[in-house]
Amino acid sequence: MNIIFMGPPGAGKGTQAERIVDEFKVPHISTGDAFRLAMKQGTPLGVEAKKYVDQGLLVPDEITIGIVRERLSQPDCDTGFLLDGFPRTISQAEALDQIASELNKKIDHVINLSVDRNLLLARLTGRRICKSCGATYHILFNPPAQELVCDKCSGELYQRSDDTEEKVGTRLDEYINKTAPLLEYYRNQGILREVNGEQEINTVTAQISSLLRGLA
Ligand code: AP5
Ligand code: MG
Ligand code: ZN
Repeated sequence: MNIIFMGPPGAGKGTQAERIVDEFKVPHISTGDAFRLAMKQGTPLGVEAKKYVDQGLLVPDEITIGIVRERLSQPDCDTGFLLDGFPRTISQAEALDQIASELNKKIDHVINLSVDRNLLLARLTGRRICKSCGATYHILFNPPAQELVCDKCSGELYQRSDDTEEKVGTRLDEYINKTAPLLEYYRNQGILREVNGEQEINTVTAQISSLLRGLA
């Protein structure tokens, strides 16, 4: 099954992806995670991506599309994949259609997590992430058992550099101007499904799971 998770920054794409890939046994492909890893390692890709990510701006399409093209060609994507945070522009969506057709694949479901803008700021500024395994927490909405320690691997939790109030504003503007128009693109293809991302984390997971299983 080939799935895309869409939604504004902080909608819960990563949180839900962690759970859904456990259930459906497909790789979780997050372009944001790929950029953060490259930035941490200081590779040429990371140095280039940092110029944009740190400002809350989208990384140019040709760079991002290249990463996804390479990733989707890996053998572990043969039985399916979950794209989180890609595509984010119409050009990326068109490129994805092209890549998929070259690889004899098609997108089965696009899940859009909708969350009101005023909730997103609280979600993003309170987010904490595990340095070792990447698990996502929230200081109020989804706290770890022990402060700043990952429940899953005991790794140390950190705050993303683009989770400040100022950067979040830029990221939301990028979303509205460049990514939101994609909803229409997938609605026209008849594969867009809406999920209310303001509900409790487990409720959202259950709804996505039912949709993917064809039960809702
Ligand atoms: P990326 O990493 O994709 O960031 P994003 O889209 O801004 O989304 P987030 O990861 O911030 O939010 P999320 O929806 O995953 O929410 P989460 O589950 O963590 O991209 C980062 C940057 O990389 C971009 O700005 C850009 O520069 C670059 N980039 C990436 N992809 C690109 C592309 N395709 N093209 C160009 N550039 C690209 O949840 C957020 C918080 O809320 C957490 O604390 C969580 O615990 C909490 N939470 C989640 N669900 C709930 C709930 N139901 N109730 C209460 N709290 C909840
Ligand atoms: Mg994420
Ligand atoms: Zn961890």
